[in-house]
Amino acid sequence: MPSSLSVVILAAGFGTRMKSRTTKVLHHAGGLTLIEHVVRTALTIAPPDRIVTVVGHQGDRVAEAIAPYGIRTALQDAPLGTGHALRCARESAPAGGQLVVLYGDVPLLSEATLARLIMQQTSGSAAATVLTAILNDPAAYGRIIRGEDGGVEAIVEYKAASDAQRAINEINSGIYCFDAALLWKHIDSITTNNPAGEFYLTDMVEILRANGHRVEGQVMTDSSELLGINTKVELAEVDRLFRARKAAQLMLDGVTIERPETVSIDLDVLIGADTVVEPNVRILGKSVIGANTRIGTGTVISNSAIADAVTVEPYCVIDDSAIGEESRIGPFARLRLKNRVGAHVHIGNFVELKNTAMADGAKANHLAYLGDSEVGAKTNIGAGTITCNYDGKLKHRTNIGAGVFVGSNATLVAPVTLEDGSYIAAGSVITEQVPGGALAIARGRQSNKEGWVAKKKGG
Ligand code: UD1
Ligand code: MG
Repeated sequence: MPSSLSVVILAAGFGTRMKSRTTKVLHHAGGLTLIEHVVRTALTIAPPDRIVTVVGHQGDRVAEAIAPYGIRTALQDAPLGTGHALRCARESAPAGGQLVVLYGDVPLLSEATLARLIMQQTSGSAAATVLTAILNDPAAYGRIIRGEDGGVEAIVEYKAASDAQRAINEINSGIYCFDAALLWKHIDSITTNNPAGEFYLTDMVEILRANGHRVEGQVMTDSSELLGINTKVELAEVDRLFRARKAAQLMLDGVTIERPETVSIDLDVLIGADTVVEPNVRILGKSVIGANTRIGTGTVISNSAIADAVTVEPYCVIDDSAIGEESRIGPFARLRLKNRVGAHVHIGNFVELKNTAMADGAKANHLAYLGDSEVGAKTNIGAGTITCNYDGKLKHRTNIGAGVFVGSNATLVAPVTLEDGSYIAAGSVITEQVPGGALAIARGRQSNKEGWVAKKKGG
């Protein structure tokens, strides 16, 4: 790519047809906001300091969403049209070289298509090259008017087009590569003299030609990349496309995905070879899954790291947690918030973990809640064990050492420590530290009243 290339992304429009309180470009497809998709594409052709996003409606939120990418933003305080939006980037964008205009709501545009557009613009002498498409149904897109020499003479917006012009099926994608110096020199000539009373960027074609310059058009090879998002129906379609591409890539990399059309895997997720993803699984955010792992049907994993050879049985919900190799989780387990699970750990059905570390080989096989806890290596947590980590005001920690046996239905009232090798009798309510190797029994003693039943019945 030429080093003098810069990009302006137009993203100030609201998107009324989304019928949402959230501005259009902040909706998600494939786990990323629409604007992030476009920013990532822009970063394939230009460095961050040569990319400007024009924001308007909910501009602060849009700027926040793209802040990690280190690109610039410019504010369009009123949506006066695409020409006005681009003008708002003038102070922030480089004055020379070539300038590519992208839309924040057209996330499928590929790097290859952009590269071809830039290649045509930089290898010729045109003042601008317009990316166009030939559509069977050109709908309400702007129509491309070609001159006898094959160049673009004008772009006519649908609203202003005659019947003959509407019959043209070459349309304006809205994506352009301009000679930046000529663009900025003439952009103020755009007027609002059109049926919508907006500043149309499309007018630049005629303005450049009137000043003796040439404008080229390049027809896209795959017009589906143009799919802009205006409604939630289109959003769902684009989301589906991104996820289908992602699943296909993972399968090519050796991941087994059963019924791939039923799984939702976000674009930033990484999965190792020979891992099996069963139907109806969701793997979201920045999750990293190792090799040879199995993710059971109905499981939802977000922002978690799961090592190699782990088995996640069906219907687990795992958030923001790490799981070590060869561990077994579920079915129906819930790991929420900052759990660190070691290797060879078993977490069984209806076990909930929150902010808990389980060292290698520890087990909690059934029906337990472990919150704000530390569980040592090879410790066994019996069915029904509950850590009482919340006293109504504050959260407290439970420290359980290594090799501890916690009997079924134990209640561990935090803060409390069970030292290494201690043994907790079933049904105990533990409120005090248990020394290493000790047995703690904290429950009412059983007494049997012989013959009581018969007496009660008055027999
Ligand atoms: C535009 C083109 C049309 C083309 C179509 C392709 C113009 C006048 N028309 O029409 O020829 O076929 O795109 O999709 O350019 N935006 C702003 N500020 C504004 C207005 C728009 O930032 O004041 C942004 C929007 O957020 C959006 C993009 O510009 O990302 C396009 O705006 P939109 O209103 O969708 O333009 P169209 O009417 O579709
Ligand atoms: Mg549009």
